Amino acid sequence: MAVLILCTTHIYKCLSLYANRRFIKSDLGFLTYPKRNFFTKKFIPRRNSVLSKVDLTRFYNGSRALMKNNTYDNLVKQNFSGGSDKKCPDHPGRHNFHKEVETALNEQIEMEFNAMFTYLSMASYYGRSEVALPGCQGFFMMMHQEEHEHAIIFLNYILMRGGHSQIPPITTQQNHDWKDIPKTFQTAVQLECDVKEKLEELVEISEKFRDHQLIDFISGEFLEEQNRSIQTLSRLYTRSKMVNNDVGEYLFDQHLYDSFVKPEKDKNLMYTMHLPQEGNTKIYK
Ligand SMILES: [Fe+2]
Repeated sequence: MAVLILCTTHIYKCLSLYANRRFIKSDLGFLTYPKRNFFTKKFIPRRNSVLSKVDLTRFYNGSRALMKNNTYDNLVKQNFSGGSDKKCPDHPGRHNFHKEVETALNEQIEMEFNAMFTYLSMASYYGRSEVALPGCQGFFMMMHQEEHEHAIIFLNYILMRGGHSQIPPITTQQNHDWKDIPKTFQTAVQLECDVKEKLEELVEISEKFRDHQLIDFISGEFLEEQNRSIQTLSRLYTRSKMVNNDVGEYLFDQHLYDSFVKPEKDKNLMYTMHLPQEGNTKIYK
């Protein structure tokens, strides 16, 4: 009887170890099969295995989801990509750049891109021949360019900190009809308020991980500009509500053109029709 129990236990152990081995199998081949201490029940990684850098007990005894997902990626994420420890760099260039901060910055990029496409949709609408409001067209094209610039600044910032920037997929615009000008400006004010709230969240996350330079970067460079954008757009929203006929709409558009578009006319993409003729070879340097 004792022999039978021993044999059954041995077969069960072999089967479970085989199952665990399946979870850590990798094409890379260097995820070697760990040993397990009989008395402490802890997993002991074999020497020179990448698993030696991973909390195997947590991996095996942790959530079932982690085990089910298995794979090399999960193991590496656990050890290298932040986890609960802020000082787990992927490489020396990533210094004190917490994964949570990086995720928040990537979300900020997504938000800037979302605003960018909404403003492009507005500019495109006001540029239609049957609408023909160049002030609104040029104004929202400028806003579009500004949001694009913001997204690129955050993208470059993540790269500067040794992180990975995520480019979000293009989301389909729900609305292509911006006929109601006050409603357009109301949407724009709301967009800027949402972006500001996201920036404030980013500051809070940076404070949580004591990322002083990022706090300074967001507070110093972005928040004031964001407040100015909210003020400008909300004033334009108020003025747009004063318009109640076609002549008023024409005058409002003229005001936008003269005050915002004309001074920056050369930089505005609303007039771009041709590829640049000079300097193309620069990209090969
Ligand atoms: Fe922005």
